[in-house]
Amino acid sequence: MQNTYNTILTIFGSTGDLTIRKLLPAIEKLLKEKLLDDKTLIIAVGRRDYTDHTYLQFVEKELKVPLDTKALEPYLNYFKLNVEAIDDYVALKAFIDERSDENTRKAYYLAVGPELLKGIATMIGTSKLVEKEDIRSSITFEKPFGSDLESAQAINQLLWTYFDEKQIYRIDHYLGKEMIQNILTVRFANKIFESAWNNHTIKNVKIYAKETDTILSRAGYYDTSGALKDMVQSHLLQMLSLIAMEVPRSYQSEDLKNEKVEVLKKLRYDRKSLVIGQYDGYQNEPNITKGSKTETFVFFKAFVDTPRFKGVPFYLMTGKALEQKESVIIIEFEETSEQHKFDLPLFTNKLYIKIAPLDGISLTLNSKVPGLRNAVEEVDLDYCVACNAVGNLPEAYEKLILDMTKHSKSLFTRWDEIELSWQFIDQVKQDIQNKQIPLRIYKSAEELYSLIETMTGEKL
Ligand SMILES: NC(=O)c1ccc[n+]([C@@H]2O[C@H](COP(=O)([O-])OP(=O)(O)OC[C@H]3O[C@@H](n4cnc5c(N)ncnc54)[C@H](OP(=O)(O)O)[C@@H]3O)[C@@H](O)[C@H]2O)c1
Repeated sequence: MQNTYNTILTIFGSTGDLTIRKLLPAIEKLLKEKLLDDKTLIIAVGRRDYTDHTYLQFVEKELKVPLDTKALEPYLNYFKLNVEAIDDYVALKAFIDERSDENTRKAYYLAVGPELLKGIATMIGTSKLVEKEDIRSSITFEKPFGSDLESAQAINQLLWTYFDEKQIYRIDHYLGKEMIQNILTVRFANKIFESAWNNHTIKNVKIYAKETDTILSRAGYYDTSGALKDMVQSHLLQMLSLIAMEVPRSYQSEDLKNEKVEVLKKLRYDRKSLVIGQYDGYQNEPNITKGSKTETFVFFKAFVDTPRFKGVPFYLMTGKALEQKESVIIIEFEETSEQHKFDLPLFTNKLYIKIAPLDGISLTLNSKVPGLRNAVEEVDLDYCVACNAVGNLPEAYEKLILDMTKHSKSLFTRWDEIELSWQFIDQVKQDIQNKQIPLRIYKSAEELYSLIETMTGEKL
């Protein structure tokens, strides 16, 4: 007679980069902090021949960061499975059934490339590893969820054949980041922002995700994706939705998503502001198709046509091989109505929501320069979340895995959010083609920034 578990988390793609670098370290931390209880079983599914022990030896060898595999060992089983063989799924089901009872929460995590997603999901459905009416089972998908609206709709249709929407978890790991979760608290739990969060007070919003890295070894995926699909469709539009949404009825998952969806419905962009670029040297990266037109940089100005935000420009920018790694949201406020009475230039207030590399918030204010001279300076009230956290801050995947095992869906994207994001991105892609938007080859970020400054009058 086998022990039964409270939670069984089964990971497909257990030999891949995501599992090794992100999921296992997150699980190890959750176990150590007792956030996952002792009656948790991790099943690492892969096509290679490993035992539980040799699998963990492989993980240790692959990992560049320390991982206490000894701490994981008592909780982990390796299960060999050919993703195309239904019998293997039936065997996996028998293995799981032996170790579960009617209270066991079962989560299936597909940490595999998009090409395997439909096949594995179909097998999970047909082998009845997950059954529609079983509310204690869930299935999790990594981004990218499709490569355009049509492919995303096809995947979704297939998923709805086998699973209920309540069982489907679509990951956008940005939503698990500390400061992204903090946006709602900063917006709604502070009186000073509550009445200021509208187009009377906010001048513009900048949402940037800059990377210094090139595409590294991700050519196969990146060359068919690009900055718009890889970053804007998911992370940047999610951040925009959280900034622009109306006050939700409650902070429960469905109410939040309802408001985010309303933002995406009202989103449009200014085609004339669109700049796309490709870093110099991209064509020489291994496995890149010669003459590839994939963009590694994108910038545009967007608007959310709601009464709250009508007329406020949202500047979205993301790119690779830029001058610094920084993900940040900058909310710039209007000039004060007293500006004209001051004999001195004043600064606009800015609220920075810093997501990476260091999480934090800062707010700039005008302040008198100390002393006898009559002068005003811009001062920065800065709060570094990471510096003040007790212990290590949780990584995004820790929060997401924890929520997945508790069946809490707030930080996962709902189908209509994905559908509307793809609709928007498909439109931008079509404009790039039809309007022949030039792909600018850049040696430095500065070249792009000065071009954007000329086009929009905005200093980046
Ligand atoms: N890596 C990240 O940091 C990251 C971050 C966000 C999202 N994601 C997303 O997560 C997914 C996985 O990414 P990854 O970086 O982990 O990819 P990866 O390193 O290429 O790993 C892919 C996994 O799928 C397995 N696999 C591939 N082809 C297979 C086949 N025909 N049959 C059975 N198994 C097969 C591989 O097994 P073998 O080892 O046996 O080949 C491996 O375990 C992707 O959708 C990616 O976009 C990744």
